[in-house]
Amino acid sequence: MKTPMKSFVATFFFILVVCDVSLARTEKSQNDKITYIVHVAKSMMPTSFDHHSIWYKSILKSVSNSAEMLYTYDNTINGFSTSLTLEELRLLKSQIEILKVTPDQQYKLLTTRTPEFLGLDKIASMFPTTNNSSDVVVGLLDTGVWPESKSFDDTGYGPIPRSWKGKCETGTNFTTSNCNKKLIGARFYSKGIEASTGSIDETIQSRSPRDDDGHGTHTASTAAGSPVSNANLFGYANGTARGMAAGARVAVYKVCWKEACSISDILAAMDQAIADNVNVLSLSLGGGSIDYFEDNLAIGAFAAMEHGILVSCAAGNSGPNPLSVTNVAPWITTVGAGTLDRDFPAYISLGNGKKYPGVSLSKGNSLPDTPVPFIYAGNASINGLGTGTCISGSLDPKKVSGKIVLCDRGESSRTEKGNTVKSAGGLGMVLANVESDGEEPVADAHILPATAVGFKDGEAIKKYLFFDPKPTATILFKGTKLGVEPSPIVAEFSSRGPNSLTPQILKPDFIAPGVNILAAYTRNASPTGLDSDPRRVDFNIISGTSMSCPHASGLAALIKSVHPDWSPAAIRSALMTTTYTAYKNNKTLLDGANKKPATPFDFGAGHVNPIFALNPGLVYDLTVDDYLSFLCALNYSADKIEMVARRKYTCDPKKQYSVTNLNYPSFAVVFEGEHGVEEIKHTRTLTNVGAEGTYKVSIKSDAPSIKISVEPEVLSFKKNEKKSYIITFSSSGSKPNSTQSFGSLEWSDGKTVVRSPIVFSWKL
Ligand SMILES: *[C@@H]1O[C@H](CO)[C@@H](O)[C@H](O)[C@H]1NC(C)=O
Ligand SMILES: *[C@@H]1O[C@H](CO)[C@@H](O)[C@H](O)[C@H]1NC(C)=O
Ligand SMILES: *[C@@H]1O[C@H](CO)[C@@H](O)[C@H](O)[C@H]1NC(C)=O
Ligand SMILES: *[C@@H]1O[C@H](CO)[C@@H](O)[C@H](O)[C@H]1NC(C)=O
Ligand SMILES: *[C@@H]1O[C@H](CO)[C@@H](O)[C@H](O)[C@H]1NC(C)=O
Ligand SMILES: *[C@@H]1O[C@H](CO)[C@@H](O)[C@H](O)[C@H]1NC(C)=O
Ligand SMILES: *[C@@H]1O[C@H](CO)[C@@H](O)[C@H](O)[C@H]1NC(C)=O
Ligand SMILES: *[C@@H]1O[C@H](CO)[C@@H](O)[C@H](O)[C@H]1NC(C)=O
Repeated sequence: MKTPMKSFVATFFFILVVCDVSLARTEKSQNDKITYIVHVAKSMMPTSFDHHSIWYKSILKSVSNSAEMLYTYDNTINGFSTSLTLEELRLLKSQIEILKVTPDQQYKLLTTRTPEFLGLDKIASMFPTTNNSSDVVVGLLDTGVWPESKSFDDTGYGPIPRSWKGKCETGTNFTTSNCNKKLIGARFYSKGIEASTGSIDETIQSRSPRDDDGHGTHTASTAAGSPVSNANLFGYANGTARGMAAGARVAVYKVCWKEACSISDILAAMDQAIADNVNVLSLSLGGGSIDYFEDNLAIGAFAAMEHGILVSCAAGNSGPNPLSVTNVAPWITTVGAGTLDRDFPAYISLGNGKKYPGVSLSKGNSLPDTPVPFIYAGNASINGLGTGTCISGSLDPKKVSGKIVLCDRGESSRTEKGNTVKSAGGLGMVLANVESDGEEPVADAHILPATAVGFKDGEAIKKYLFFDPKPTATILFKGTKLGVEPSPIVAEFSSRGPNSLTPQILKPDFIAPGVNILAAYTRNASPTGLDSDPRRVDFNIISGTSMSCPHASGLAALIKSVHPDWSPAAIRSALMTTTYTAYKNNKTLLDGANKKPATPFDFGAGHVNPIFALNPGLVYDLTVDDYLSFLCALNYSADKIEMVARRKYTCDPKKQYSVTNLNYPSFAVVFEGEHGVEEIKHTRTLTNVGAEGTYKVSIKSDAPSIKISVEPEVLSFKKNEKKSYIITFSSSGSKPNSTQSFGSLEWSDGKTVVRSPIVFSWKL
C-alpha cells in the first residue's frame, strides 16, 4: 500500500509507506526474516543484569539463536531492533516483558532571501550575540552532508562546545577532517535499511555521512549554514545565503538512502543525537497519523523533548487536502510552508499575441527569443505512449524537433519530462499543471529552457494549440523578481489541519518559508536529480515542507542561543504567539490553493516572525508531567504510557484529566454539536519571560453563536512569574451553518502581543 504523493513537491519529502505486514508475508516464506522494533518493559529487568543491553541480548537469545541485534536503544525507547522469523516473533511476543513489537517502517523520499524576508538582518543589531558563533547544536536527520560546501566554512567560529559528545564518523569519501568547528558531527545509520532491502548499492551512494542526494545538505545549510556571498543557481536568487542560525553548529545524522529511510535507523540516530547533546533536532521526513504509542518517531521525539531538545518536523506535502498534516504529537513542532516575496517569472507568449505567466529556473541559452513552432505533447506521441505527460520515450522526434513542447504534469517527475523533450530534439518546454496540481506552478532547474504554468493557463494555451494551424511561442525569461506581493501565501502543497489524531490540538503549529528555497547542495547529484544531467551546482532551489522545517529548526536554535534556559515548549510558544496572520493591509494571508483567505487549519498560529519571537513577553511552557497528563487524558493504559514515555506511570484515578488543559499556545475547540448547550473550558498558564507588566485579554471570533469568556481578564506579572487563566467556550446549542469557525485570543501589555489562534469545529 502506498501513500499517494503529490509530485508537486521537491522530490524528496519522505512519506511513510505503511508496511502491510500480512501482505509482505504472503510473498515471504515462514523462514524469511522481517525487521522489528521491540519495546521492552524495562521496569521488569531482573537485578541480576548489570545493563539493559545485556538483558535485551538474553531476551533475543531466548527466542532465536541466529537473530542479530541491529540496534540497542538507550535514550529513545526501552528496547532494540532485530530481524525475526514469524515463529521467533510469536515466541518473543509471548514474553511478559515485551510491551509491543512494531515492524520496521520505511519512510520514502517523499536561502538567499529568507533572512531578509524574516527580518534576520535586523536581529544582528538588536541581539549582537546572535551574529557570533554559539554553542547551540542543530542535529539533522537526513541524507547526509556535502562537507566541502562553503555553507559549512568554520572561519571565525569558536572552539567546539565543551558539552559536545558527538563525532565525525569516517567512511566512503569521508574522513574526520571533513568536520570542523561548524560541522561538528557527522554519522550514518544503515543497519535497518540493509536488513530490510539488502546491502546498499555502493556504486551509487557513499557508506558514510556524505550526501549523494542533496536534500540533507540543503536542509542543514538552511538551518545553520555559514554566510556565503554570491550564492545562486544559474544566476537565479543571487545573494548572500545563510542559515537561520548562522552561528549555530551543525551535526548531521544520515538515515536516508536511495532506497528509503528506516525508522529503526532513525531511532538509532535520535538515540545518539540525545547522547551527543544536540539542542535542536530537524526532521524533514514524514509519518502517517498513527497513534502516538505506535509512532516510533513520536516516541523518539518524546525522549528528545525530555532532554530539552526541540524537535521540529515537516508537516507534510499532502495539501491542500484537509486532515493531511502529519507529525502531530504535541511535543513535536510541526511546520507548514509558505512562499517568499521572491519569484522567477518566465512568460509564455503565443503567436496570437496572448501572454501567460509562468515560473522558471532554466533560461539556458539555446532558445531563440523569436517565436518558434509550438506543439502539445499529446499530439506528438509515439508508441501509443503517454497522453501528453512526456514520459520517457513518448515523443516523436519528427514532430517535436526544433519546437517548444507543452507537457502535462503527472506520471513521471517534472524534470524527467524536460529530459524527454530534450532527447527528442525539442528546443524548450512549457510544463502545465493538471487540475489536481492547481494554479501554483513549480519552478525547476530543467535540463532545457522551460517555464511552468498553472492549470487554467495551461488549458487556455492548449486551446490555442488545438485551434491554430501553425502555433508558435516564445518564452520571456525575467530572471529573479523580488518584492512580490502578496507574500507569504500558504503553499498549496503544505499539509493542512484539522489534526486527525487529536482534534483538540491545532496542527500545523505555524508556517515558515518553504517555496523555492536556495540552499547548499551536493555535487554528487545534478540539480534535476537526473543521472543524464551532467550539471553540478553548489546551490539548488527546491520546495517543500522539507525546506520550511529547517527554517524553524534554525530559528529555534537562534532563540536558544539568546535564551539558553528556555524549554522546547517555551521556544515553540515564542515562535507561535508572535507570528503574523495578515499582510500590511490587514487582509488575512492567502491560501495558494484557492487565493482565498487561509485559516489556522492552513497556517496554524501564522507565519513565523523571528524578531518578535526573541522577545515574546509571555510563554506557554510545558513539562514532561504535562505531557504525561495529556496521555492520561487520552485514556492511555499504563502499558501505552510506558511505550511513549519509558516509565511506569499511573494516572491518578481521582484527577480529571482533559486534553483541553494541555498548556498549548493555541485552542482547538471541538463541539459535539448535538447536546444542546455545550461548555468547553481550557486552562492555561502563562510564564512571564519579559519585564514586569500588566496584560489584558482581547478576543476576536467569527462565530457569534459561541460565547467566549476569560477569567481573569487582566494578569499582572512580576519577572518570571506564572499566572493561570481559564477560557470558556459556550455554544448556544443551535447547529451553526458552517462546521468551522475561527478566532484569536490576545494578551497585550500595550507593547507586546501574545496571540493564540482559536479554531471551532463541530462533529456533524
Ligand atoms: C553580522 O555578520 C554579517 C556577516 O556575517 C555582517 O554583515 C554584519 O555586519 C554583522 N552584524 C553585526 C551586528 O555584527
Ligand atoms: C560577539 O559579537 C560582537 C559584535 O558582533 C563582538 O563585539 C563580541 O566581541 C562578540 N563576542 C564574542 C564572545 O565573540
Ligand atoms: C569524493 O569526494 C570528492 C570531493 O571531495 C568528489 O569530487 C568525488 O566525486 C567523491 N567521490 C565519490 C565516489 O563520492
Ligand atoms: C551576484 O551578485 C554579485 C553582487 O551583486 C555580482 O557581483 C555577481 O556577478 C552576481 N552573480 C550572478 C551569477 O549574477
Ligand atoms: C491534438 O490533441 C488534441 C487533444 O488530444 C486533439 O483535440 C487535437 O485534434 C489534436 N490535434 C491534432 C492536429 O492532432
Ligand atoms: C490595520 O489595523 C491596525 C489595527 O487595527 C490599524 O492601526 C491600521 O491602520 C490598519 N492598517 C490598514 C492599512 O488598514
Ligand atoms: C476518556 O474516557 C472518559 C471517560 O470514559 C471520556 O469521557 C473521555 O471522552 C475519554 N477521552 C478520550 C480522549 O477518549
Ligand atoms: C450563517 O448564519 C448567520 C445567521 O445565523 C448568517 O448571518 C450568515 O450569513 C450565515 N452564513 C452562511 C454562509 O450562510
